[in-house]
Amino acid sequence: MLANYRGFQAVVGLTLIVACTLISSVFISYDGVFSSSRGKLLASANAREHAPAHITLENYREFVKPLDRANSTTLFNAIYAALRQAGSDIHPIGVSYFPAVIPKGTLLYHTGRANIPEGLEWLAMDHEFSYSFAMHSVRYGRNATQGWMHGPPGGNKSLKNISGDNPPMPPHDRASRAHFLTFRATRDLTKLLYLDGASAAKTESGEMDTQKLLSDVIAKRLNESDGRDDSDPRKRFVMEERVYAERICKWGKPFGLDGYVRVEVGFEVVLCDFLNGSTELVSNITLPQTNKVLGLPDPANVTVANGWPLDDEGLIIEDEMTPEQVAIMDQEDEWQRVLDQYSSMLGFDQIRAGYVHDKGDRRIALDYRYLVTGVNRTLGDADPNGRRLLNDNLSDEDKEHIVDDLEYALQRGFDSGMSTDWQQVVDEIVDKFAPMVKVMSQILSSSEVDSRTIALKVTRYTLNFVLRFSGLDNTVLLDDDTSGDFGFGRHFAVYEYTRPLKDLHTDADYLIWSALVNVVTDLVDTVYDIHELLMPVASSGLAPGSPEPSPADDAAKVAEASTKISALIDQLHWIALDYQCDRKCAWDEVCYTPSWGPSPLSWADPGSNRTTFGMHYNPAVDRMVINTELQCISADFLIAGRH
Ligand SMILES: *[C@@H]1O[C@H](CO)[C@@H](O)[C@H](O)[C@H]1NC(C)=O
Ligand SMILES: *[C@@H]1O[C@H](CO)[C@@H](O)[C@H](O)[C@H]1NC(C)=O
Ligand SMILES: *[C@@H]1O[C@H](CO)[C@@H](O)[C@H](O)[C@H]1NC(C)=O
Ligand SMILES: *[C@@H]1O[C@H](CO)[C@@H](O)[C@H](O)[C@H]1NC(C)=O
Ligand SMILES: *[C@@H]1O[C@H](CO)[C@@H](O)[C@H](O)[C@H]1NC(C)=O
Ligand SMILES: *[C@@H]1O[C@H](CO)[C@@H](O)[C@H](O)[C@H]1NC(C)=O
Ligand SMILES: *[C@@H]1O[C@H](CO)[C@@H](O)[C@H](O)[C@H]1NC(C)=O
Ligand SMILES: *[C@@H]1O[C@H](CO)[C@@H](O)[C@H](O)[C@H]1NC(C)=O
Ligand SMILES: *[C@@H]1O[C@H](CO)[C@@H](O)[C@H](O)[C@H]1NC(C)=O
Ligand SMILES: *[C@@H]1O[C@H](CO)[C@@H](O)[C@H](O)[C@H]1NC(C)=O
Ligand SMILES: *[C@@H]1O[C@H](CO)[C@@H](O)[C@H](O)[C@H]1NC(C)=O
Repeated sequence: MLANYRGFQAVVGLTLIVACTLISSVFISYDGVFSSSRGKLLASANAREHAPAHITLENYREFVKPLDRANSTTLFNAIYAALRQAGSDIHPIGVSYFPAVIPKGTLLYHTGRANIPEGLEWLAMDHEFSYSFAMHSVRYGRNATQGWMHGPPGGNKSLKNISGDNPPMPPHDRASRAHFLTFRATRDLTKLLYLDGASAAKTESGEMDTQKLLSDVIAKRLNESDGRDDSDPRKRFVMEERVYAERICKWGKPFGLDGYVRVEVGFEVVLCDFLNGSTELVSNITLPQTNKVLGLPDPANVTVANGWPLDDEGLIIEDEMTPEQVAIMDQEDEWQRVLDQYSSMLGFDQIRAGYVHDKGDRRIALDYRYLVTGVNRTLGDADPNGRRLLNDNLSDEDKEHIVDDLEYALQRGFDSGMSTDWQQVVDEIVDKFAPMVKVMSQILSSSEVDSRTIALKVTRYTLNFVLRFSGLDNTVLLDDDTSGDFGFGRHFAVYEYTRPLKDLHTDADYLIWSALVNVVTDLVDTVYDIHELLMPVASSGLAPGSPEPSPADDAAKVAEASTKISALIDQLHWIALDYQCDRKCAWDEVCYTPSWGPSPLSWADPGSNRTTFGMHYNPAVDRMVINTELQCISADFLIAGRH
């Protein structure tokens, strides 16, 4: 059995215990706040809703709102990564609240106590996720007495240079979480907030800022004290997300908030209320223990009192065991090896369930019309790993506005069918431009020395792109039209790639669309600029009477094109350009993207040397980041990481 599950579950177990003790104390009416703030909310409504504008090719630029490139990129990439496992971990710091809907009939999973939760609780979108939480067998053999978990990476969860020397967690009574409940949504859950990035990371490095901001503002509005117990570092991180959840649900109740959605390894819902008819129980299973299923007896009670030689850390002293004890341990080690085979697979199944959603979790639909975001409010850094929502530049007033906007959005109610699916628009852009940009960059940075050869290879990508948006006039005027004002062609290209699928109604619609227009403008401009630079190089000396190649000039143009494409790539921060698996994975493998929260392959495993697998420390942003080259892993890999 992998100790990481055991340790991990110790945390989860503690969460459940804390949950139950807190629930009884929180139900205070919030009605007063709701009615007093309602006037203000309605008053600001006009600022957020607009009559749909008739946006055309001719006029669309007039409707683009001011938004700088860095903010445009940030929002573009957030939409690309939304509800995608790998993307959420690669760009872990979310700064937005996405309105979300889970349709009637969706199944959701929970392990823990046998009763239907009376307060809020966590529900997994994948049963493998819940199962992996709940299942752990007792451990056998020489290593069964090793410590529990080492807490989250970096101890204080800053994710700065993870070293993993944290206090051990106490073991947890597994019986209290062996109940596996499956729920079904009995209506559309239309008032959910999806928190993007690695929002269930239980860290202090920004991943949970959207929850913390909301919780802090709510505490003020509810006149609640902070309520945190910072005295015990082990309790602290378990408590915080529970406190956030209690507050967010209490605040959301008058607005009909169903809960919120986060990613761990797999997506999960914090459901605020199980008892008011939004879900029903469809299955209740008490999970057996794998060792019992295999017919194994209980493990030996390895204690000093029972005559076992143990060192200060509780580990068996091999040389001091009696021959009978050695025989018992040899037998148990064998049993443990068998159990490891099965238990590694349950962890791997969870990783696979997360991986399946690298391409998205389409059971959750987003209504972008009421997106509430820190983008264009205050964000110091376009680097997705270098920013956070709660930075020095975010004023208390900004925070209040964000929560006001959320209240407004919740009062409107969500309907993803009314919203442009902006991820679809973004995907079309990324899927079409990324290969083009990447290959152009590769050609322009290759060791090829002949400028005309380079220009030919690059314009092979640009010529047809540009021709498609050019009139006859432009094709013959390439040389003349060096003013940069290529006019109609570029203008139309941007319009075509960013055209909203539905009318724009809200501030958020305009914000998103403006971001897309800005990003695509840079893409199109770069393609066109490079085309204009290199087309004359590629065609020099080709036709009778055309200008002869001029090696020095041509090389300078190639260098300029190379600079342009590099600048574009640096600015885009596109996951698609940078991250990929080192090879095609086999059937028993997945391409693994590390995650920041608890996982079967992460910080919760004291016996593993893999706590930083797939990531490295980046001093530029002073935190751990995910390696651009992802690796295939199998269930065996989870076992091999053990000592
Ligand atoms: C689930 O099953 C357990 C064990 O049979 C039982 O004690 C518990 O009451 C059941 N829970 C619900 C909500 O039906
Ligand atoms: C968290 O860790 C960082 C880096 O290891 C350290 O600088 C900081 O003081 C720690 N913070 C707390 C609250 O322990
Ligand atoms: C990370 O911490 C380890 C152990 O504390 C140390 O040896 C290493 O130099 C640190 N790395 C960085 C990049 O700070
Ligand atoms: C919080 O305190 C303020 C000022 O004392 C008061 O106006 C407000 O009604 C209180 N809100 C709640 C929810 O008790
Ligand atoms: C169900 O509970 C949630 C959370 O408390 C609440 O927001 C919602 O309005 C409730 N729905 C109904 C139908 O009572
Ligand atoms: C270890 O002790 C527990 C009770 O403390 C008992 O249930 C179990 O059977 C014991 N194991 C063995 C192998 O004797
Ligand atoms: C985004 O917009 C805000 C508000 O205008 C500004 O303070 C910030 O510098 C901009 N850039 C980034 C990267 O956030
Ligand atoms: C706050 O903004 C200033 C410039 O406006 C910037 O230099 C600083 O890095 C920002 N702080 C944070 C924490 O983002
Ligand atoms: C970004 O913020 C500026 C300054 O507050 C504002 O003028 C502009 O309209 C905002 N852009 C969008 C797209 O909302
Ligand atoms: C981790 O342990 C495995 C198995 O002992 C070993 O093969 C591997 O090299 C170790 N990795 C690191 C990074 O130490
Ligand atoms: C127990 O752990 C030690 C290292 O701590 C390792 O060398 C040994 O192979 C492990 N034994 C078994 C049976 O897993």
